[in-house]
Amino acid sequence: MTNRDLLANAYAAFNRRDVDGLLELLTDEVNWPDGDARLSGKAAVRRYWLHQFTETRTHDEPLRFIDVSPGRTVVHIDQTVADLYGRVLSRGAFRYSFDIRGGLISRLDISVVTTIGFIGSGEIGSTLARLAVDAGYDVVLSNSRRPETIADIVAKLGPSARAATAGDAARAGDVVVIAIPLKAYRAVPVEPLTGKVVIDTNNYFPHRGGVFPELEAETTTTSELLQQHLSTSHVVKAFNNIGYRELATQGQPAGIPGRRAMSIAGDDAAAKKTVGTLIGEFGYDVVDVGPLAEGWRYQRDTPAWTGRRTADQLRTALGQAKRYAGMS
Ligand SMILES: NC(=O)c1ccc[n+]([C@@H]2O[C@H](COP(=O)([O-])OP(=O)(O)OC[C@H]3O[C@@H](n4cnc5c(N)ncnc54)[C@H](OP(=O)(O)O)[C@@H]3O)[C@@H](O)[C@H]2O)c1
Repeated sequence: MTNRDLLANAYAAFNRRDVDGLLELLTDEVNWPDGDARLSGKAAVRRYWLHQFTETRTHDEPLRFIDVSPGRTVVHIDQTVADLYGRVLSRGAFRYSFDIRGGLISRLDISVVTTIGFIGSGEIGSTLARLAVDAGYDVVLSNSRRPETIADIVAKLGPSARAATAGDAARAGDVVVIAIPLKAYRAVPVEPLTGKVVIDTNNYFPHRGGVFPELEAETTTTSELLQQHLSTSHVVKAFNNIGYRELATQGQPAGIPGRRAMSIAGDDAAAKKTVGTLIGEFGYDVVDVGPLAEGWRYQRDTPAWTGRRTADQLRTALGQAKRYAGMS
């Protein structure tokens, strides 16, 4: 039986509320989500489902199965939750990521993030889009021109990718990556990004994009400027201090000794958690540097600016950072 067959059977059993049929498809030590908590073992999962089935009638319609690796398959689902009388309470799109060991489900992670939007599809944007597609996300890419001008990039990414205008990419993304030159940050559309997690890849190179007096005076940082512009979004500074070629090739599964770490900064804990999950799926550990105001610790020319580092090594480099004014 393929992983897809296994999961198709699991959804069929779930939708007919066949708890024993479902449990047969899980490993004994299965790890399962229950809101923000995790359940461990079949007995706990059995209790969870029996309880859930007394309260609601949930129908999960699998839309697409994506084999991310031999041991992981992602399923995009359309979920309808009804009460016991069949009255619809909610409907939504979810991304279910299943780990599969020995032909059985060993872990499930559920996310409301199914689509990642890109404003900017150059070196860093298109590289992140590749990693996102490989991890089972849909991506919507845009640039400064018409969508047709990125048709070749989208074709290479395959059926999970499409091209759009910047406004449409912002609207479509559950999370949106800003990967344009810093000088253009005020062109990022504000309204479609309201309430969303926005990843800021930007760096400041005065000789390339013009001088920003407030960055020269170090009264603010690049990501704080974007956050000020996107005052209703949750900006997380990430993927700034890795070259796009390294980003494409250095990712490794969690737990491998020497795994490279990425720094993140942001003012919203939930947004940082969302971005941290993505970074983990893209193959990297995460070091949380703190609020956006601390993002200078991995800005251009600091010790953490370049180089492959584990989480511990990255923390050391971040601790050695100096503001430009303090550099000799
Ligand atoms: N390259 C790297 O390895 C790397 C690594 C980490 C961080 N970064 C940072 O990421 C940012 C982007 O760098 P990059 O190297 O990816 O640049 P890039 O290859 O030059 O790509 C820039 C992209 O932004 C688009 N763009 C420009 N203005 C736009 C606007 N107003 N609206 C929508 N899209 C717009 C461009 O579209 P057009 O083609 O239509 O102009 C292009 O797709 C920079 O701040 C850089 O410092 C880069």
